[in-house]
Amino acid sequence: MANGPRDLFQKCREYRDSADARAQGFYPYFRSIEEPHGNYVICDGERKIMIGSNNYLGLAQDPRVVEAACDATRRYGAGCTGSRLLNGTIKLHVELEEAIADFLGCEDAILFSTGFFANQGALIALTEEGDSILCDRENHASIIDGCQFAPAKLIPFRHNSATSLENRLKRLPEESGRLVILDGVFSMSGDIANLPEIIPVSKRHGAFVYVDEAHSLGVLGRQGRGTVDHFGVQDQVDITMGTFSKSLGSMGGFIAGNGQMVEYLKHRARCLIFTAALAPAVVGGVKKALELMQEEEWRIEQLWRNTRKMHEGFKRIGFNIGETKTPIVPILIGSEAKAFIFTQRLFEEGIFATPAIYPAVRYGEAIVRTSFMATHTDEDLDRVLEIFEKLARELGTFDDPAYANPGRRKNVFDFRLPDAVATDAVRENGGEYSQNGSGLCASVSR
Ligand SMILES: Cc1ncc(COP(=O)(O)O)c(C=O)c1O
Repeated sequence: MANGPRDLFQKCREYRDSADARAQGFYPYFRSIEEPHGNYVICDGERKIMIGSNNYLGLAQDPRVVEAACDATRRYGAGCTGSRLLNGTIKLHVELEEAIADFLGCEDAILFSTGFFANQGALIALTEEGDSILCDRENHASIIDGCQFAPAKLIPFRHNSATSLENRLKRLPEESGRLVILDGVFSMSGDIANLPEIIPVSKRHGAFVYVDEAHSLGVLGRQGRGTVDHFGVQDQVDITMGTFSKSLGSMGGFIAGNGQMVEYLKHRARCLIFTAALAPAVVGGVKKALELMQEEEWRIEQLWRNTRKMHEGFKRIGFNIGETKTPIVPILIGSEAKAFIFTQRLFEEGIFATPAIYPAVRYGEAIVRTSFMATHTDEDLDRVLEIFEKLARELGTFDDPAYANPGRRKNVFDFRLPDAVATDAVRENGGEYSQNGSGLCASVSR
């Protein structure tokens, strides 16, 4: 017998994961920053070294970028109050598009209000029923969601594996249009896309190639042109996507490539047409940041000095940092609960980082995701290493079976605290140990 319509809000009333984690004193999300200063932030009146940001070049707080954003606001107002297609295009949008196309050596570029929309908008608009999108398993959520909304079929292939890709391409119906898509730098592992092997396989099977340069702009390639430039394969990549929310210190995204493709997206991408244009402040700031990124090459050089120092430092202590080759450094913890605890202890010791748990990373392979910036000082970095070493000892990270054997355990959400951890704080908060914090993954970026 029917019981009437389902109560849509029942799941909200029953949702306990965040409350459980708060009660136990290690809820790591939505931390409020009172003052951002790039390499450090002020939270609850205390200074924390920031190692959880994608502000790779430290441009988000640069006074020249901030002034350019203010200047754009003074000239064009606070917002564009409409879609790019209709009333929302200002001269600055067009200038930034030209600057990006010029920088990347592409015919044209089109801005989107977020990087997420750029991926969704392009994937939905460019594919048709019967087409296939071959998607690296570790691609970002915006790509996965874009694939799911697109009319094409989503076909995942093993991370960075040209063999796995080729096996899937071989099995496609001959007439199926095919697009191979991958992150230039993978947002959780810090791994670089295996373009030298992936591209020839793609081309051999008639596939177009799409690279998401969100984490590689400002990091890889000449003056930060990205992974495609890093490998010198510009003439073999058909679509370049990028974001302004990382090295360029703001928000927004773009698609760059062939002029006709961009013209088509301008008139067919619903994520562009049915949303308001990027605010003048954003466009003015990004335009300035793009100039500074090219003028001040010391930023990328310093970013890489800091990156090498941290790779070596973490490895020397004994941490497993996976396959990273970039400023994104995943610190394997294994157990989800312990990744939360580690992060909370870092915060108490003056370091701001965030955990990443399933589905942001593989099940049972929880990490503390760290990322480094050009503006971190040696003193900041030495302090970070010192605290990580201290906490690994305090929390028994390296002796934990979940660390030695990541991904193998059945019950990864065992929110039992290791002996040495602040059980008093838990008692004070009156927390009960949850058996399941899995829903918290929704707050993580993938
Ligand atoms: C690889 C990748 N692509 C796209 C995005 C989405 O970009 P945005 O945050 O600018 O919307 C992100 C954001 O984290 C990302 O890591």
